[in-house]
Amino acid sequence: MFITFEGPDGSGKTTIIEKIYRYMLDNGYDVIKTREPGGSPIAEKIRNLLLDVENDNMNSRTEALLYAASRAQHIEEKILPALNEGKIVLCDRFLLSSLAYQGFGRELGVENIRMINEFAIQDVLPDFILFFDIDPITTLKRKSLLASADRLEKEDNNFHKRVYKGYKEILKNEKNIELIDATKPVEDVFEQCIEVFKRRNVL
Ligand code: TYD
Repeated sequence: MFITFEGPDGSGKTTIIEKIYRYMLDNGYDVIKTREPGGSPIAEKIRNLLLDVENDNMNSRTEALLYAASRAQHIEEKILPALNEGKIVLCDRFLLSSLAYQGFGRELGVENIRMINEFAIQDVLPDFILFFDIDPITTLKRKSLLASADRLEKEDNNFHKRVYKGYKEILKNEKNIELIDATKPVEDVFEQCIEVFKRRNVL
């Protein structure tokens, strides 16, 4: 079972994935947690290139290809081996992030991004996707001021608005999407996810 988590920056995905992961471990499930970009040694090196604020002149096409490259490596090194061992894989961001951020945010065109990712991914697709729905502008206002904000988070509000609209557009045509209301408090968001996992027979 391959489950991915998607949503704008600041949607709280990472906190919730950690909670779900702990909950599943405590209940004896054979589960791993991973993330993109990164997730394996080579892919984490690509992540550092992508998120380094000093790389402020990175070409958008370079960026798109690096996200796809990180994904290819991550699938080969970590996701596929885990799935082949029968593990449940929880992944923080996957293909939809590239479609929304590079396709819409960078305006490279969603079909171009699909094409390079088809090459990278081959046929490894999630069984279902949890989309953390929240307008990113409020959460980002706080984060972009912090020294810890990464290269993508420092992008202006128009970029993040395009990403959010892009996600909404993509969701119309995606199958296996579960919408999570991420405006709610952490415990409530966690419960929404647990309900989905039960309905999908993961738990
Ligand atoms: P993420 O790890 O979610 O950020 P953080 O750990 O700070 O919460 O993702 C890093 C950034 O990379 C995020 O702004 C979204 C972006 N991203 C893309 O632009 N394309 C992609 O394909 C992926 C996976 C992430």
